[in-house]
Amino acid sequence: MTIEEASELLRRGEVVAFPTETVYGLGADAWNPEAIKKIFAIKGRPGDNPLIIHLSGKSQVHNFTPRIPEAAQKLMDACWPGPLTLVFEKKPEVFDIITGGLPTVALRVPDHPAALDLIRRTGPLAAPSANRSGRPSPTRSAHVRREFGATFPVVEGGLSDVGLESTVLDVSRPPFTILRPGKYTFRQLESIAGVRVIAEKQTPAEKSRSPGVKYTHYRPSANVTWYNPSRHPDKQQTLLISHTGRPGGFRHHIHVDGDFEQLARQLYDLFRMADLQELSDISVEPLPPEHAHPLIAALQNRIEKAIG
Ligand code: TXA
Ligand code: MG
Repeated sequence: MTIEEASELLRRGEVVAFPTETVYGLGADAWNPEAIKKIFAIKGRPGDNPLIIHLSGKSQVHNFTPRIPEAAQKLMDACWPGPLTLVFEKKPEVFDIITGGLPTVALRVPDHPAALDLIRRTGPLAAPSANRSGRPSPTRSAHVRREFGATFPVVEGGLSDVGLESTVLDVSRPPFTILRPGKYTFRQLESIAGVRVIAEKQTPAEKSRSPGVKYTHYRPSANVTWYNPSRHPDKQQTLLISHTGRPGGFRHHIHVDGDFEQLARQLYDLFRMADLQELSDISVEPLPPEHAHPLIAALQNRIEKAIG
């Protein structure tokens, strides 16, 4: 549907899917709690998993938080629009249904012309990824229609450029903490912000500061594993995803030849392709260490969650 049609629906309190540079989002007016309730119903999302509010520019941040730390301002200046979500202390008027009752609110400015155009017309949009809870995020409009039906309202935006969800960084208190790895790495954030950044490490007993991380995520129907030749995967029924080696004999084989940007862009599309072809397994060649490429940490995180 067109951006005009989508903005009209959003103004009437409906939910619309729209493209971003990371993955497609399922948006509703951030100042309309009835509209936001519909997002949770459509996705089957637990109510304690908060949503990111998508803005069209930095100037809107003040409407949601009473305090922007100086180092957070540097990140906004350098990284927005872009795949970085910042978690701030929230203003009391931000609805609890968005924040899952937390004292903080997640904000980001997406780097996609259709998303920015839409938000300029409608105002800030609360939006999770446009998939049923637990499933891989959509990186194409066709994925959204597959999740929610052929007539579901979605603004066309092509294949998402990054393909993995944004880095989520909590800047509400020191030390700044990465709650979800993404394209912006720990090292990049630290050098831009000029303050210490840590990655959240939890033992199973600890409660995450990001409620979403405790749920199953990014799961296709096919069984995802790391490639291990000694386990003799079924070469007819397995989609092999490789980046260095080219083990022979697999009927379904995608090789990205060391291009981890391509792997990130295609990962969820490949998960969904394997399901469409009713393959039983997806086998991914183990990734190199994190320092080998900025996207490794995010890829490792999403693939591990898909493995479960
Ligand atoms: O790239 C993205 O971030 C995509 C696009 C659509 O913008 N959105 C996305 O939304 O991935 P979602 O809802 O699938 O994931 C949001 C993550 C969840 O892990 C959630 O728990 C966390 O952000 N989050 C949201 N608000 C939070 C808060 N106040 N404190 C801590 N974590 C928060
Ligand atoms: Mg999601």
